[in-house]
Amino acid sequence: MTDKLIIFDTTLRDGEQSPGASMTRDEKLRIARQLERLKVDVIEAGFAASSNGDFECVKAIAEVIKDSTICSLARANDRDISRAAEALKPANAGRLHLFLATSALHMEKKLRMTPDQVFEQAKMSVRFARNLMADIEFSPEDGYRSDPDFLCRVIEAVINEGATTINVPDTVGYAIPELYGNFIKNLRERIPNSDKAVWSVHCHNDLGMAVANSLAGVKIGGARQVECTINGLGERAGNCSLEEVVMAVKTRKDYFDLDLGIDTQQILAASRLVSQTTGFVVQPNKAVVGANAFAHASGIHQDGVLKARDTYEIMRAEDVGWSANKIVLGKLSGRNAFKQRLQELGVAMESETDINNAFVKFKDLADRKSDIFDEDILALVSDESVTHSNEQYGFVSLSQHSETGERPQACVVFTVAGKEVKGQSDGNGPVDASLKAIEIHVKSGAEMVLYSVNAISGSTESQGEVTVRLQNSGRVVNGTGSDPDIVVASAKAYLSALNKLQSKAVKVAAQG
Ligand code: KIV
Ligand code: ZN
Repeated sequence: MTDKLIIFDTTLRDGEQSPGASMTRDEKLRIARQLERLKVDVIEAGFAASSNGDFECVKAIAEVIKDSTICSLARANDRDISRAAEALKPANAGRLHLFLATSALHMEKKLRMTPDQVFEQAKMSVRFARNLMADIEFSPEDGYRSDPDFLCRVIEAVINEGATTINVPDTVGYAIPELYGNFIKNLRERIPNSDKAVWSVHCHNDLGMAVANSLAGVKIGGARQVECTINGLGERAGNCSLEEVVMAVKTRKDYFDLDLGIDTQQILAASRLVSQTTGFVVQPNKAVVGANAFAHASGIHQDGVLKARDTYEIMRAEDVGWSANKIVLGKLSGRNAFKQRLQELGVAMESETDINNAFVKFKDLADRKSDIFDEDILALVSDESVTHSNEQYGFVSLSQHSETGERPQACVVFTVAGKEVKGQSDGNGPVDASLKAIEIHVKSGAEMVLYSVNAISGSTESQGEVTVRLQNSGRVVNGTGSDPDIVVASAKAYLSALNKLQSKAVKVAAQG
C-alpha cells in the first residue's frame, strides 16, 4: 500500500497575504467551495484572531465546507488559539495551526524572547490547544533557518504535548532542494517521537524553488503533507504552487509512489477563479495552468503530437480541466439554466434579487457577445454591482471620445452611496481620461501601482479583464473589472479598488 500525500491549501490565508490579494467573505466562500470540489485535504481558511473579518470568514467556511478539514492559523497564545477554536466550532473536521518563530534572528529581533521562553511558550500553547481540539499543527516559523538542536528540542516537546502535524516552514524562501530535504530527514531521525506526527513542508518561492524544495522535503525528508496555494499565490514571490506539486506527484508516480486525493480535473477552474478574484493574472507559460501550458506552436511538435501525443506531452490537458473550456450559455439561455450553471460553478447568491441582477447582466452581456464561457460568468459575478449592491461606488455608464491627434475625453456616470454623479475629464488615453473622471469626484489621492488588461477567453471578441492596484496610506488593494469594452472594464476595476480601499478592516499580519 502506498502512502497518501496530504494537500494543505493555504490560498485563503498565506495566499491572501500577497499585497492586494485580500478577498471578501463571499469571494473566500466561493474559492473554498472550489477547493472542496478539488478535494484538497485541508483548507487553511484564514487567521481568525487577526481581524473580525477573518474570524467571520473562517466561521462561514467551517459552516459550509464539509468534505475538507478546515484550519485556522493562530499565534502561540491563548487568546489567538481560543478565537481560532471558536471560529472552527461549526466544522465537521477542524484543525488549529499554531506558529511561533524559532530562528535566532526572529526570536531576538522580532519576538524579543530567549530560546528558553520560546520553548516554554511553544509547549504551553500546544497544551492549551490540545484541550480544545484533537487536530493540532505546529509550525516553528523560519524553521529552516533555525538551529537544528533547538528545533529538535522544541519539536519533541510539542509532539509530547499532542501536536499531530509538524510543519517546517522555509519562511523566507532560502532553502535549496537537497539541503531542505536532508534538513527534514535529519530532524525526523533525531527526534525520538517524530513518528507520532505527520511531517509537513511549507516553502516560499523567493529563489523560485518552492515546488522543488517541497518535493525534496517529501522525497528525501519523508514529509507527507505539502502546504501550497493555487497559482502559487502568496507574499513576495509566492508559495509553493498546488497545481505544480500535485501534477508532479501524479505524473511521476513512478518516482514518488504516493497517492493523492485531488480531483485534478478541477485544477484549471480553481486557477481561473483565484486569478479572477484576486486580479493576479496567470503568466502564459506558467506550468499546468498557463494559457500556453499545452499549446504546441512549432511544426515539429504539432506533427509529433498528432502522430502520438506522448511524443511531446507528459500529461493530458483534460486531466487538469482544459477541455472544460466550452461554450456554456448564450443569448437564448433562460434564468433556470443560468441559475443551474451558477450552482455548478459553486457560486452561491444570497438572494433571488442577486440572481435576478446577475441574470440581467448576463442577458446584457449575451447581447454583446455571442459565446458565453464559464470565465465570463465568473467575471460577471465578481462584478460588485451584481453581488454587492450596497457598495460605496458603483458603475453606471461611460462615454468617451478618442481620435488620432485629439486629446481623449471621457464622461463617467457612477454611484456614490447610491446617488448618481457624473465626472468628466481628458487624459493621455481613453482609459486615463475615464479614471481621472472618477478620481476628480472621489479625490481618493490613491497612487496607482499596477494596471493590467487581459483577454478572458483569448480573442478580441472576449471580455477584457482589468486589474487596478491602488496604494493609499500603506494599504494596497486590487480591483478587477470586466467588460467587452476595456475602457468600461477599467472604470469598473478602478471603482472596485476604491470600494476595497473603503473597507476599514485592519489585520494582524502573520509572517511568511
Ligand atoms: O511562512 C511561514 O512561516 C508561515 C507560517 C505562519 C506557517 O506562513
Ligand atoms: Zn508562509
